Amino acid sequence: MSLPWLTDIEYGSATEELLAKDMDAELQKHGVVRLTGFPATANELIRLLEHLGTPLRYYGGDTGTHPHHNAIWRVSYDREGARRGEAHAVDGPLAMHSSQSLLEPRPRYFCMLMVNPGWQDQAEGMNGESLLVPWADALRTLSEADPSDYMSMLNTLRSDIPYPDGLTRSVAYSIEPKQNEFDYGIRLKSDLLHHLQEILPGADITQVVKALVKAAQRAALRVQLTAGDLIIVDNNRWGHGRESVIGQLPTGGGGWDVNPRELWSLTLA
Ligand SMILES: [Fe+2]
Repeated sequence: MSLPWLTDIEYGSATEELLAKDMDAELQKHGVVRLTGFPATANELIRLLEHLGTPLRYYGGDTGTHPHHNAIWRVSYDREGARRGEAHAVDGPLAMHSSQSLLEPRPRYFCMLMVNPGWQDQAEGMNGESLLVPWADALRTLSEADPSDYMSMLNTLRSDIPYPDGLTRSVAYSIEPKQNEFDYGIRLKSDLLHHLQEILPGADITQVVKALVKAAQRAALRVQLTAGDLIIVDNNRWGHGRESVIGQLPTGGGGWDVNPRELWSLTLA
């Protein structure tokens, strides 16, 4: 389905070099682009994306990485991972976050290829719909909700705070060229709010990050990807998340059907 905020480019409609050039232009202008009809082939994916940047080795364990390339992480429902509480392995929604939020310098692009959208006949918001948010829209939402407090919230987000890895850094950071007054990079780790609630329960930053998470959810754009959709976003300016997905359903005979949903994600420096 075509969306007003998302430009689609058909894979195979031009040479790889020309496609990459068009994608790059779209990313510079809008921070997001979708390539449709992309094959689920690791080598082809890496070859194309190398025109835009350097694929980063996936930072997590090896279990979810693609056997043909260690930058590709295969996101699918995993009963064992879900039992261990691994964020991307469970069903349920994924709050808006940045890719490789602890990495400095910030990786430029986040990419996801839908290989199999899985079950699509559940209620709205239960089909693993992808969510994308321009951080500028999240900050604008914050400012509209609370105009008199916005500058102080922004200053709090721009101050160094303790992250779960023990280092300090700011949630919001300057990016060049600044496109509008709300144009800041955001590094929002999925568990940052939980971490702050544990170590700084009464602090301003904890309240502000909570408000930012809520604003990002409100400003999020929804896209239901079909097989072969490859989305690339500017990882400084856009966050990503997901609506709920059902991991497994009981079969009549006492067993379980597992949702075949599979998405490949990777980050480019
Ligand atoms: Fe993610």
